[in-house]
Amino acid sequence: MNILVIGGGGREHAIIRSLKKNPQVQTVYALPGNGGIAADATCVPIGATDLDGIVKFAGENAIDYAVVAPDDPLVLGCVDRLNAIGIPCFGPRSNAAIIEGSKAFSKNLMKKYSIPTAAYEIFTELPKALEYLKTAPIPTVIKADGLALGKGVIIAQTREEAVEAVTDMMANNKFGASGSTVVIEEFLEGPEVSVLAFTDGKVVKPMVSSMDHKRAGDNDTGLNTGGMGTVAPNPCYTEAIAQRCMEEIFLPTIAAMNAEGRTFTGCLYFGLMLTKDGPKVIEYNCRFGDPETQVVLPLLESDLLTVMQATTNGTLAETEVKFSNQHACCVILASKGYPESYQKGFEITMTEEARAATFVAGAKLAEGKLLTSGGRVTGTTAIADTLEDAIGEAYRLSDGVKFENAYRRSDIGQRALRESR
Ligand code: AMP
Ligand code: GLY
Repeated sequence: MNILVIGGGGREHAIIRSLKKNPQVQTVYALPGNGGIAADATCVPIGATDLDGIVKFAGENAIDYAVVAPDDPLVLGCVDRLNAIGIPCFGPRSNAAIIEGSKAFSKNLMKKYSIPTAAYEIFTELPKALEYLKTAPIPTVIKADGLALGKGVIIAQTREEAVEAVTDMMANNKFGASGSTVVIEEFLEGPEVSVLAFTDGKVVKPMVSSMDHKRAGDNDTGLNTGGMGTVAPNPCYTEAIAQRCMEEIFLPTIAAMNAEGRTFTGCLYFGLMLTKDGPKVIEYNCRFGDPETQVVLPLLESDLLTVMQATTNGTLAETEVKFSNQHACCVILASKGYPESYQKGFEITMTEEARAATFVAGAKLAEGKLLTSGGRVTGTTAIADTLEDAIGEAYRLSDGVKFENAYRRSDIGQRALRESR
C-alpha cells in the first residue's frame, strides 16, 4: 500500500513509525516531512497547507490511504479534497474540524448539548468585551477564536492584564483574523489530562491518557509552548474518571456533532481539566496532539493502520484497540530561546540507540547532515514497566541526542510521579 502522511513534526514521525509496523505498508510519503522523517519515509517538499499541491501529488502517486495530521489542513478541507478524488483519509472533514478551528463554535456546542466546560462569553466588539471585564471574576482566561498555534490563550491574573490581552487581540490584531472574535472564560483549576480518542462517528475508543508539559521552564514556569514533554498514562486519570468522561463528555460530543450534521471521524483530542466539580473540557483538537502522540502510539499494541481505516469505514466497534500496560515518557529537546527567538542550523548527532527512540520535529537535511530548523527539534521516548523507569530512560536516551544550544526541561514526568504516589 502507498500511504500519504500530511505534516512534518515529531507527531508525524511517530505516526509514520507506527504505520510502518504493518507489513502491507510499502511506501510512505510525507508532505513535507522533515530531515529526520526522511530516514523513515519519502519526503516531498509540498507544504501541509498547499491543498492544490497535495491533491495533485496524491492523484499522481496511487495513494491508497492518507493521514492528515495537523490542524490547519484539516480546517482548510484537505480531507474533503482528497475524498473528492477517491482517496480515503484519516481525519475529519472541514465541517467537523471546526470543533478545533473555532473556539466560539466548540463553546456553543458544549453549551447547547450540556457538555461540562468553563463558563464563558463570546465577544466580537471590543467595547462590550471591556465592559464585561469590569466585573468579570479574576483570574480570567482570554482566547482568540481561531487557530493561533496554541498561543492564542492568555490567563490574566489581573484586570489590567485582561484588558491588555483583549485589546491586543481585538484592536491590535495580535493574532490576525483569529483574534477578531474572543472568548472570555472562567478560570478552572485542577490537574490537566489529554485524552486522544479514535472515533468513526458512532463509537469512541479512547487511547491511553497522557500529560503534556506546556510551559517552557521547569516547575511549569515561563511561556506556553507547543509542549516540552509528555508521559502516559496520566496517573490523575483513574478508571472512575474515565468512565465519567465517556458518559458526560466523549459520547455526548460525538452525538452532538452528528446532531449538527458534522459527523466527526479520526482522532478527537479532549483537553480536560479534572476540577473539584468533575471533569471539564478545556479544549477540543481535531487531531493527534504533539507531543502526546509520541508517548501514546508507542504504547499501542493493535495495528495503527487497521484502526485508522476502521474510523474511515465505520467499523471501529468491531476493531480491537489495545494498549500496553506499560508507561512512556517523551523528553523534547528544543532550540534555546524557544518559543521566542532562537538560532537554527546547528548539526544534530545521535547515538544509534537514541536515534531509534527519537522522533524528529524541527530539522532539515543539508549535504547529508541533519541541522536544527525549528523550535522543538527532537522528542525522545522511552517505555518501561514503571513511570519512574520510563522517565529515567527517556532522559538517558535524550543525552545521546546532541546539538549546540539544545534546551530541555529537567522535570518531565515529576508531577505525574508525585500524583501517583
Ligand atoms: P488551550 O490552547 O485552550 O489548550 O489552552 C492552553 C492552556 O491554557 C491549557 O493547557 C490550560 O493550561 C490553560 N487554560 C485554558 N483554558 C483554561 C481555563 N478555562 N482555566 C484555566 N486554564 C486554562
Ligand atoms: N500538545 C498539545 C497540542 O497538540 O495541541
